[in-house]
Amino acid sequence: MVDVLIIGSGGAGLTAALSAKGSGASVLVAGKSYPTNSQTSMAQGGINAALGNVSEDHISSHIADTIKSAHGLCDEAMVRQMCADAPKTIEWLEHLGVPFSRITPSSTLTAQHSTLSIAQRQMGGASAKRACYAQDYTGLKILHTLYDTCLKENIDFMDEHYLLNLITKDGVAKGATFLDIRTGEVKQIDAKSVILATGGYGSLYHGFTTNAYGSTGDGVAAVLRAGGAVSDMEFIQFHPTALKHSSILISESARGEGGYLVNSEGERFVDELKPRDEVARAIFKELQENKEVFLDVRHLGEEKLMELLPQEIALCKLHEHVDPAKELIPIKPVAHYTMGGIDVDYALEVTGIKGCFAVGECSNAKVHGANRLGGNSLLEITAFGRFAGENAYKHSIYASSKPADDTQLQKDKAHLESIYAQESSVNFYEQREALGKLFYQNVGIVRHNDTLTKALDEVIAMQVLSNKIGIEDKSPTNNTNLIDFLEFSNALLLAPTVISSAIARDESRGAHFKVGFEEENEDFKKHIVLQWKKETE
Ligand code: FUM
Repeated sequence: MVDVLIIGSGGAGLTAALSAKGSGASVLVAGKSYPTNSQTSMAQGGINAALGNVSEDHISSHIADTIKSAHGLCDEAMVRQMCADAPKTIEWLEHLGVPFSRITPSSTLTAQHSTLSIAQRQMGGASAKRACYAQDYTGLKILHTLYDTCLKENIDFMDEHYLLNLITKDGVAKGATFLDIRTGEVKQIDAKSVILATGGYGSLYHGFTTNAYGSTGDGVAAVLRAGGAVSDMEFIQFHPTALKHSSILISESARGEGGYLVNSEGERFVDELKPRDEVARAIFKELQENKEVFLDVRHLGEEKLMELLPQEIALCKLHEHVDPAKELIPIKPVAHYTMGGIDVDYALEVTGIKGCFAVGECSNAKVHGANRLGGNSLLEITAFGRFAGENAYKHSIYASSKPADDTQLQKDKAHLESIYAQESSVNFYEQREALGKLFYQNVGIVRHNDTLTKALDEVIAMQVLSNKIGIEDKSPTNNTNLIDFLEFSNALLLAPTVISSAIARDESRGAHFKVGFEEENEDFKKHIVLQWKKETE
């Protein structure tokens, strides 16, 4: 039995692993892919910390900006903790070796004060240049450094293991079951504490999201099935600038460094550095008026672009066939980040499941509220990743070391056998496309109660059809068709939680904007929390 089982090997999971191991726990990290393949690698613009290296800044300003952007739906104590931890989190990352970009050569500074030389840039909704960055590869560099450190610390990994279910006994986490993708074996891992770091559910917007296909909310769905709570599911952030034809993210740092947004008439129509919800709505309005929208960075000049935004330039050339130094970049807003997720308390422990913690995008630690600020997600995964690791270790000290029986394991084996046996008359890949389109159109940037209700009906119809969907590929090993199916099943399970929460919220707040209810309403200044009723209740 392991002390701390960490499910998810992105930035949040790796940080939690280092912290739990550093506290003295035995640790195992399980992931459905490989650490270097996680969503963290796609975070580009930066990580917020009020270092004040480039412009005057204070932790209190970081707290105030975060609270303002959350539109009344954050927990101020959690925001304070995250923002106050930010400078020492940067110091820790710097100490591990993250190659942050510099304002002065680091050789001129002493090692203790080397964070003073970290370059910082502007992000939307921030009152100072606060985002520390490594060109526009910030998430990737942080992720690789964390993974290198985990390998150095001999942390155990179980890659290509797909989470099937949490194992609980009397409301306490006892481990989890996994499908070993390579061998097809179903395994039970017993643990004293579990940390979920499984990412968000942005892939509900399949085809209209900056997220990888695998962001299907697997951990969020597993918590619901195990009796835990989820909250704020309706709050989806739309990133203003994804490439028009591929939905690939073009970082907010392009606007932070001075890029403009222009419509097809050549007009600037919004302050580019407003928070993402406002900028995304302004772009949506232009698109509704049949105008095109472009990001314009030509005036920054090729040299500056290559120094500060090399990845964005390469992505534009490769995927949109435009050279940003000379041409406009066609863009559209798409789903980017899920503010809602697994409901957790002040220790990041899951509501309804003792000894199970959740951190990163899968968790709702109430720091982002109705709208997350750019640069606060990399901060959350690292600052709170460390906190989750410590708390899970503390729980493991007093947790029972009696392993769970194999009831869940047997159920999961039977379920997989039934999937293999199921005849497939409906193509779930087509359904996945349809769900993405339905979500983008009906559960998107601007919502209406009637189209939300229509979307809910369509999702329920898809759920009813699910006894007609199955897998074509019946091979027992390396079956990606099966993994796609399991992921789609999780997305379909979560879809009604997003839509029904959006229907219930008859107001507009942050990223949730509803026609007919365009103002914030005090009656809705609260979280919508969902938990499945037990059959006996
Ligand atoms: O635009 C970006 O670079 C994204 C940053 C973030 O989501 O925090």
